[in-house]
Amino acid sequence: MQGKKLIVPSFETEAREAAWWEKNRSVVEADLRAAMREGRTTSLQDIIAKPGQKPVVRASEVHLWQIALDRPPTEQEQLLHLLSAEERDRMSRFRFPDDRRRYVVSHAILRQILSRYLDTDPVSLRFITEPNGKPHLDPDRLTFNLSHSGEMALVAVGATRQVGVDIERIRDDVAALDIARQFFTDEEAERLAALPAAEQRAAFFTMWTRKEALGKARGLVLGQALRDMADSGGGWRVETVEAPPGYAAAAAGEGHDWAVRWVPS
Ligand SMILES: CC(C)(COP(=O)(O)OP(=O)(O)OC[C@H]1O[C@@H](n2cnc3c(N)ncnc32)[C@H](O)[C@@H]1OP(=O)(O)O)[C@@H](O)C(=O)NCCC(=O)NCCS
Repeated sequence: MQGKKLIVPSFETEAREAAWWEKNRSVVEADLRAAMREGRTTSLQDIIAKPGQKPVVRASEVHLWQIALDRPPTEQEQLLHLLSAEERDRMSRFRFPDDRRRYVVSHAILRQILSRYLDTDPVSLRFITEPNGKPHLDPDRLTFNLSHSGEMALVAVGATRQVGVDIERIRDDVAALDIARQFFTDEEAERLAALPAAEQRAAFFTMWTRKEALGKARGLVLGQALRDMADSGGGWRVETVEAPPGYAAAAAGEGHDWAVRWVPS
């Protein structure tokens, strides 16, 4: 973190670790929020001087990591080596270099993040994809979800509950009300239409990311019950989360007994 590095000590007991985080969590989270606003990558290395410290996601938490995808060529080259043959094959099918770069960076850093929780080599991680398209770890030792848009990605990590995340670049070229009338519930479309015109675009993307995050947590496929799906409710909770300027983002998870944490350990 620029100029301000918080040193996390080694903890002899879980109770001491919990007490440390109780005392310092607000400082860590304020730093991470500043990084979010500035569009920087948030990573444990930013706040923890001890490289390799293993983050732990508690049952009551959903961890969020923000990844900036615009990396220099040397780093891209290193990250490429973390991908599996299947991932490289997928990457090579993107026609545009920028799409290939975004794929490599988001998937390689996803591997790095998950491997830190599992204390394992990023290359050794295996994924399986459900018929609905949602990837899982194999074996399923953590839950996660990835989203990318423009030059940013978000990764949500859960202990065992299903999680979903969505980030979208707020674009000018969307017919917000038309899409809302087609895909949102009537109540949601009316709520959007009632807003002043200047607020509709940002509000639309906020609603869209909430729906996407919820749909991704539930592992739905696009088009499945889209119009009927409210933006929260049932056995699932969805939360609008901080995003860099020009983006909207949301996270969702199974159950209601969880809180978003920006990469604590
Ligand atoms: C496939 C889908 C998840 C892609 O969404 P997107 O915004 O274009 O892309 P994102 O970057 O947010 O997510 C893509 C990542 O999510 C994961 N993913 C793919 N299918 C998924 C699914 N059905 N559920 C959860 N995660 C999924 C993958 O990791 C994927 O990354 P990759 O394509 O680089 O491998 C989306 O089109 C979809 O089917 N959504 C269903 C959820 C829903 O009902 N949404 C309501 C919208 S109103």
